[in-house]
Amino acid sequence: MRTSLRFITGGYKAVGTWQQSTFLSPLSTQLSVSRSSSAVCKEERSYYITAPIFYVNASPHVGHLYSVILADCMHRYKLLRGFKSKFATGTDEHGLKIQQAADAAGQEPMAFCTGVSHKFRRLFSRCDVTFTDYIRTTEERHRRAVEHFWCTLRDKGLIYKGSYEGWYSTPDESFLTQTQVADAVDGTGQAIKVSLESGHKVEWLKEENYMFRLSAFRTQLLEWLQKTPGAIQPERFLQDVIKWLQDDLPDLSVSRQRSRLQWGIPVPGDPEHSVYVWLDALVNYLTVAGYPNDHDHWWSVAHHIVGKDILKFHAIYWPSFLLGAGLAPPRSIHVHSHWTVNGTKMSKSLGNVVDPFERSLAFTTDGLRYFLLRQGVPDSDCDYTDHKVTKLLNAELADSLGGLLNRCTAPALNPTQTYPSFCPFSFPNERDGRAVPEDYHMLDAVQKLPTVVERHYESLHIYKGLEAIASCVRQTNGFVQRHTPWKLNRMDAGDRRWLDTIVHVSLECLRIYGTLLQPVVPRVADKLLSRLGVRANERNLNDLDFLPSYRGKACPFPGRMLGPDTGVLFNRLESPTGDQQKTKNIRKQIISRHL
Ligand code: MSP
Repeated sequence: MRTSLRFITGGYKAVGTWQQSTFLSPLSTQLSVSRSSSAVCKEERSYYITAPIFYVNASPHVGHLYSVILADCMHRYKLLRGFKSKFATGTDEHGLKIQQAADAAGQEPMAFCTGVSHKFRRLFSRCDVTFTDYIRTTEERHRRAVEHFWCTLRDKGLIYKGSYEGWYSTPDESFLTQTQVADAVDGTGQAIKVSLESGHKVEWLKEENYMFRLSAFRTQLLEWLQKTPGAIQPERFLQDVIKWLQDDLPDLSVSRQRSRLQWGIPVPGDPEHSVYVWLDALVNYLTVAGYPNDHDHWWSVAHHIVGKDILKFHAIYWPSFLLGAGLAPPRSIHVHSHWTVNGTKMSKSLGNVVDPFERSLAFTTDGLRYFLLRQGVPDSDCDYTDHKVTKLLNAELADSLGGLLNRCTAPALNPTQTYPSFCPFSFPNERDGRAVPEDYHMLDAVQKLPTVVERHYESLHIYKGLEAIASCVRQTNGFVQRHTPWKLNRMDAGDRRWLDTIVHVSLECLRIYGTLLQPVVPRVADKLLSRLGVRANERNLNDLDFLPSYRGKACPFPGRMLGPDTGVLFNRLESPTGDQQKTKNIRKQIISRHL
């Protein structure tokens, strides 16, 4: 059958025609196979989110933590919405660069991998990353899944023995075409070729190995992208993928000769070859879903989070492998940009990594989580400095949010340490009480906040959700400041009702903020909600009802004792001498070089 496809999303123009081979079934059949009606029913309340699995050739840095915290935030958010949620991450342990790193460390590959894998795991536990599965590609269950996946592709005629000749980047474990490399010189002045995308050195490779018929999938990939709005988010990354699909899409080498790569999964039936590490790594998402036996349920609700450097592997190779194996592509791929230091991508080879263990000690784990999710913008890179972290956390967590909680729960304003009542005459629906127009604007903003935050969290624009919360917190502080409740006369019945109303409204605002902040800063949110006396079963996001008394509805809180005072919500941080000290040291070094 000869098919031609016109892709209209985002202004994409016509693409060439494609000869559909008999070994490929139509995309629509494959989508419906995996998303059968029973799966659709179950998937309503199920969600499966994955973070990338991390290379173990180096220790974790703040960029890695960001990838995994985004996924953790989504997992927690879905649980709070009543979903059954699965969240997987882990370590990517095969490949030449891991083999070389183990050699350099003088260790057996397995012992080396175990050491670094545990380091990642310890960091994630320390930062309250609540994965439900931590997968290592060296596990037996994963080997079985890769073997089964390989045999499925092979049996469908999608893998053939061929001869590969071209460029290969070991640090990226990536094959490159002539147009993807450039001339450069190395540190010793020798002429080399580098990958245009990553800047890593590439080498010429000529090997007999197994090839995957990637070239046959262009039309199906475009069809998938066209039929699945939101398949790749944000939009600018979808456009990148569409551009790549307009370029050459040669068949992909999916094995390496065993003599070159011993540290990998042997190709089923041909132990002279090892499975290409990206094919091996990507299958981890299926392994966790239960592949090859029982994966339908979780696979039908799978969403990936990936950094922009690994988009091509996830948006082109992976869906092609899946379609080839008769499985649906993931529901969505959420792409994020990078953390940089002085404008340069943080990476071990550049020696500019920020240590997340150290920073979580300095700023607390919630502090670090809040900073990364509040400042990390999916669409563009963000520069990391300790100074920015301190400034942001002091302003938003310590002063604004912490200050509001402290004011409204302090014995001076709240001598009985209870949740006070709301007086509808002081703050009526019609504006003839003691509230002023700005107060109504504030109520309106907080009333809408859960919906606004939901929209941003759902699209993984966590920073926008946090921006909206921070803006409401500022408005609530403005509300308290405007009415100076500490100046009201508690002996006067009218003043007392108004004072109670101000505190009631402020605590209601705080309850909404605390509930919405749970996926991002679980400890701070718990401390806040516990101080307000909000019980565990009152913290989910489905029935978040702000200020019901204002709408004449019953509110369970008035008269309830506040929770114990366990200290300030978030301690102010010292000004970041670290950065200044580093700058001073660099200045000193420069000066001494010139003396
Ligand atoms: N092992 C592969 C992923 C395989 S997934 C089937 C890999 N590993 S990695 O350790 O190099 O990167 C893991 C994740 O960390 C990627 O999403 C990558 O984009 C992210 N980051 C690595 N450096 C980063 C920054 N400087 N900033 C933000 N994220 C960064 O790729």
